[in-house]
Amino acid sequence: ELTREFIAGLPKAELHVHIEGTLEPELEFTCAQRNQIDIQAKSPADIDHSYGYGLTEFLKAYYRGMKVLRTEQDFYEVTWSFLQKMAQSNVKHVELFFDPQAHTTRGITFETVIEGIHAAIVDAQALGVDTQLVMCFLRELSKQSAWKTLASAKPYHEKGWIIGVGLDSAEHHNPPLKFMTVFDEAQRQGYFLTMHCDPKQVDSVEHVKQALEVIEVDRLDHGMSIVQNADLMEYLISQQIGITACPIAYYYTRKDMEQKAIMELFAKGAVISLNSDDPSYKGGNYINDVYYKFGQKCGWGEDEIVQIAQNSFQSAWISPEAKASYL
Ligand code: HPA
Ligand code: ZN
Repeated sequence: ELTREFIAGLPKAELHVHIEGTLEPELEFTCAQRNQIDIQAKSPADIDHSYGYGLTEFLKAYYRGMKVLRTEQDFYEVTWSFLQKMAQSNVKHVELFFDPQAHTTRGITFETVIEGIHAAIVDAQALGVDTQLVMCFLRELSKQSAWKTLASAKPYHEKGWIIGVGLDSAEHHNPPLKFMTVFDEAQRQGYFLTMHCDPKQVDSVEHVKQALEVIEVDRLDHGMSIVQNADLMEYLISQQIGITACPIAYYYTRKDMEQKAIMELFAKGAVISLNSDDPSYKGGNYINDVYYKFGQKCGWGEDEIVQIAQNSFQSAWISPEAKASYL
């Protein structure tokens, strides 16, 4: 019988979470006041992170919420608040997405964003949480904008502050191939590569195919439609390419946890992990809630949950020594 205590005690890695999606109403209210931004809320209780269904509706709420993040202190506090939660959840390693263009397009500098986030990452090491940053490009923006962002990141990548690049936001008509040359260059510079492929996107299988076969990603985010293509699934499993599932997040945007696909991938030995995505916009469900709720739904016991946690370390971008210490 699976208990919350067992899950809470289990060392885990969180590999799919967007820092902007962890902004809770309390801090959003504090930042709005500090920065004198009118968000039409008299208290945190007036801030509503719910929305209708679908990626577009979610993204509207997500971009609306993050507008209060303006200073290095704001970025520090959102990151620190999240990493404290991870320490309390026995999360040992986090690969944290951030969306620089969601801020630079509002006139916030790349430096402000990364300096604030990075300072919190350094402070959280004392709590036993090791964090690496993964920079996502917004796929509805131009390739040129992605290039510019990659250039801004270069000094920070060289200092070891950013280890990977990803691709997120509005997927329709924005396939992986749109960014092929940018990802090629990122790979040349030594970044790990990953990409979101939304299972409900109409061209989802084609996007998964491009990500795996053309871009040659090191990991795949969502990508649950891969179960519709036996060859691609066989490739993912034989190459032991990690795949990050966020079932509770799917439930919030799509009323469907993709349980069948996740269970199939798990049963076939894919390196599949469970993650939270945007906990503040997905009912406040952080990683331990995801493990518990989805584990219950699947009727899993401790063995399956241990395997999921092992998969999270197995597919993490950490040294073989660090991996061995967790496995
Ligand atoms: N999907 C696409 N883009 C995103 C998401 C998501 O769930 N969260 C943050 N950016
Ligand atoms: Zn995501």
